[in-house]
Amino acid sequence: MMAGSDQKILIYDFGSQYTQLIARCIRESKVYCEIVPYTFGLDALAQVKPSGLIFSGGPFSIFDPDAPRVAHEIMTLGLPILGICYGMQLIAHLAGGEVVRTPKREYGKAELQLDRPDDELFYGFAAENNVVWMSHGDQIIHLPSCFITLAHTANAPYAAIKHRDKPIYGVQFHPEVVHTHQGRKILQNFVHRICGCTPDWTMSSFISHAIHNIRRRVGDKRAICALSGGVDSSVAAVLTHEAIGDQLTCIFVDNGLLRKGEAEKVQEVFGKFFHIKLVCCQAAKRFLDKLAGVTDPERKRKIIGNEFIYLFEEEAKKIRDAQFLVQGTLYPDVIESVSVKGPSATIKSHHNVGGLPERINLEIIEPLRELFKDEVRLVGKELGIPEEIIWRQPFPGPGLAIRIIGEVTEERLNILRESDVIVLEEIRAAGLYRHIWQSFAILLPLKTVGVMGDGRTYENVIALRAVNSLDGMTADWVRLPYEVLERISNRIINEVSGVNRVVYDISSKPPSTIEWE
Ligand code: XMP
Repeated sequence: MMAGSDQKILIYDFGSQYTQLIARCIRESKVYCEIVPYTFGLDALAQVKPSGLIFSGGPFSIFDPDAPRVAHEIMTLGLPILGICYGMQLIAHLAGGEVVRTPKREYGKAELQLDRPDDELFYGFAAENNVVWMSHGDQIIHLPSCFITLAHTANAPYAAIKHRDKPIYGVQFHPEVVHTHQGRKILQNFVHRICGCTPDWTMSSFISHAIHNIRRRVGDKRAICALSGGVDSSVAAVLTHEAIGDQLTCIFVDNGLLRKGEAEKVQEVFGKFFHIKLVCCQAAKRFLDKLAGVTDPERKRKIIGNEFIYLFEEEAKKIRDAQFLVQGTLYPDVIESVSVKGPSATIKSHHNVGGLPERINLEIIEPLRELFKDEVRLVGKELGIPEEIIWRQPFPGPGLAIRIIGEVTEERLNILRESDVIVLEEIRAAGLYRHIWQSFAILLPLKTVGVMGDGRTYENVIALRAVNSLDGMTADWVRLPYEVLERISNRIINEVSGVNRVVYDISSKPPSTIEWE
């Protein structure tokens, strides 16, 4: 789904950890782009008709026998190409240049010296502040005769190159990372000036296109959507509602494992504020009965997942003519990334409504499948979704059940819920909520001794977890200020009966995980 002028850039992924970042930068230049695996063939390319190509970097050496390559003809199509790091070496190699392995990897900052400051690639460049970020093991030593040098650094004689008479460029450094101070400018110049794309891909153009497409697909049929109250399903639901109004019914399952006040919030925002047809399934008892006596984390997940599917199925059957299921799948979940660990390494294993589509035989609508999380937030903002939903931290599908180590009971849920609300209140009060990926409480399956007043107590321990992360795949614990930790601890011990100790989790992922179960 594109917008505006329907122009698009294709990014050939050679497995760089920065490929998504390149895509983010291009989209910030208001040009639509998509990531494709490097195996994307010439026939497919001819159908897509992109305005230009970017070859990403990658962990490979051009000398590896199984190094990823593209057909040489790709350089003869007249399409503008920008090769980054490995992408540039590949271009030079395909054009007959000589690439060698440098004795030492060059990693870190370098000063870019422009040999051709008038080239379009450097349009609007400030003369000073030309720090660029290098990260490579191979380097070009003989430029193919059809190329010229645009810039060099102390260690790289060919830091930026250009074909003599085709719009084909290469940069040895990474323009997409923030350490390359004018890197965004280079990417912008490439897409706007060299590929000739108009900067018209904005969130509002995305929204009007998405609405148009949803309307066309659904026609006079009906759609249903599983609403969790998280950012992705909320934005998908409101966007679809804008398109088809009352033909959409959202189903919200209160499984009794939610945070305090969440079920009420969903009803208030989506039912009362947006006037979306909302079926609220009050199923806390059903879930808790099924979870009674269960302590194994994976069994908990299975029970909750299955129960959710049964319930959703029951409700969906009541909606006549329902033919579509709306899901809040995002772009990072669908990219076929050529990761060194294999194509599936970046595909999330947890999916809240996994298994649903096959069971209920509905066609899937994924209106956000081309967007990154921060773009989804911008769409949500344009649609008028309240900030507290747009900025909501991720919350696992199985909810508080996987934050109660051991058996899930009503009493233990209450202890965790009350503690959790204090954590969030204090994190918000300290202005940290939006800067933290996830912050929450965990109830441990052990009791410890304390003193309160004149007596000894023997009560529960709450663990605190606050992590920073980009995508949930890796994470580091947040260095929360002592005063915030102190306030959280004091308040939980004073205000939540049944807790006499609070500890802070200082493990990163890997080797730990974000959740405790
Ligand atoms: P872990 O604990 O694996 O979590 O480091 C990574 C991210 O996934 C969330 N998470 C889940 N989400 N169902 C979900 O929908 C699950 O079973 C589940 N387990 C973990 C977790 O909150 C974090 O954002």
